[in-house]
Amino acid sequence: MANIWQQQPLAAALDLTDYTAKVKNYILEHFEDLPLAYVHSFGCQQNTADTEKIKGLLAQMGYGFTTQLENASLVLYNTCAVRENAEKRVFGTLGALKPYKRQNPKMVVCVCGCMVEQEHVVAKIKKSYQLVDIVFGTHAIKRLPKMLYEHFTHQYHVIDLLDDQQGIAEGLPILREDTIKASVPIMNGCDNFCSYCIVPYVRGREKSRKSEDIVAECRQLIKQGYKEILLLGQNVNSYGKGLEENINFARLLQKVNAIEGDFRIRFMTSHPKDCTYELLDTIAACEKVCNHIHLPVQCGSDRVLKEMNRHYTAGQYLELVRYAKEHIPNVTFTSDIIVGFPGETYEDFLKTIALIKEVRYHLLYTFLYSKRMGTRAALMPDPVEAAEKSRWFNELLQVQDAIGLEINQSYVGKTLRVLIDGPGRTAEGTLCGRCESNIIVECKGSAAYIGQFVDVKITQAFKWALVGDMII
Ligand code: SAH
Ligand code: SF4
Ligand code: F3S
Repeated sequence: MANIWQQQPLAAALDLTDYTAKVKNYILEHFEDLPLAYVHSFGCQQNTADTEKIKGLLAQMGYGFTTQLENASLVLYNTCAVRENAEKRVFGTLGALKPYKRQNPKMVVCVCGCMVEQEHVVAKIKKSYQLVDIVFGTHAIKRLPKMLYEHFTHQYHVIDLLDDQQGIAEGLPILREDTIKASVPIMNGCDNFCSYCIVPYVRGREKSRKSEDIVAECRQLIKQGYKEILLLGQNVNSYGKGLEENINFARLLQKVNAIEGDFRIRFMTSHPKDCTYELLDTIAACEKVCNHIHLPVQCGSDRVLKEMNRHYTAGQYLELVRYAKEHIPNVTFTSDIIVGFPGETYEDFLKTIALIKEVRYHLLYTFLYSKRMGTRAALMPDPVEAAEKSRWFNELLQVQDAIGLEINQSYVGKTLRVLIDGPGRTAEGTLCGRCESNIIVECKGSAAYIGQFVDVKITQAFKWALVGDMII
């Protein structure tokens, strides 16, 4: 195929159903067997939620799915740009795809998601990864049928990165992998511009979904038998901004909590700057809302927090944690931490360690700072050697490992309500699930319990999980 890239026009008024039917007919006429798609997500929960919509569209167009590249007529990678490693993995994966495409030149290769919203990435794909046929951004998912049709009928490469800022498209089909837990995006994009972060540049401005659409989706999921709803957004605490209705995240939680049924509500991510006492009181008052808060602090030094553009101090953060511990029974916290932000000193880092010891998180997601082109932090002097940052990173892991284990040990002898979500990983005949605090719990039991809430008396604690006996 000639290396011609066709930029797609903005297609707000387009009849997308029409294109779904067109691709379906094309497939019936040109494929002998059911064509299979290989789809992989590289990113966060939002990225996975987008992938579920993409799979919904593909299924509607007549695709089945495979986990074997050699059987795939279509390969789609939904990418992430948050750290350099994520991008390297995508390019490595595309390189490894070359022999498959050589063997099956008709294979359609699509690359979408956050990473391709950067000009230098698109330039690299056009120059060095000619095997890629379709490139599209996070706002263009709904136009996938049109892109595929254009590609099939004209044989050119298709690109659709137009940022039409329409927020989350309603009504797209969703093909969910899980039958027990469901993610429900409540907003898209981010307005916060933390100085290290690429997300606002690749996902665009924050747009909230109408609460009636969210509640209707949740209600439908509960009716289908889902037992856990995860409300998703880059900063759920600022939910509602720009909507005509008078709503905020606390009120949305109340609405979802009011849906009848036996299910749990989780949410992420909470930005500390927008975490209000009203919200913490609501978490305490809503019986279906879990007592676990993922509240990324990123760093414990006020000077670095300011450079990061986070809009809170360590003291303000600790005050929120104190209030939550006082008002939400058995509340647990998890957090994201960045080690080695430009200009961070060992003294700054020790403040992070002190904060971690004070909050006592049950789990931390720790990241070494990764320079992202186009962000403000990318322009800041970054004198500390990588090896030194790695030493700090390991020091932090050791501190956290000890705290995590102590917290887990405190559950021994207690009985926890666990949502069983699959078979256990350690031994035959075991089951795995999560307690309300989101800690992994394993117990013996039959597969019939998968998808049910059970009580488990904890007998053993490890760093990553609790083990116990099911009480029947
Ligand atoms: N919106 C969420 C999460 C965004 S991305 C929030 O505000 O918390 C998930 C995590 O990746 C961030 O919390 C941060 O810890 C990390 N991260 C983002 N950009 C990074 C970078 N350039 N280098 C290292 N870690 C980064
Ligand atoms: Fe990135 Fe900050 Fe937005 Fe989170 S809140 S996505 S860290 S800019
Ligand atoms: Fe998620 Fe990565 Fe995009 S973390 S929002 S997939 S840059």
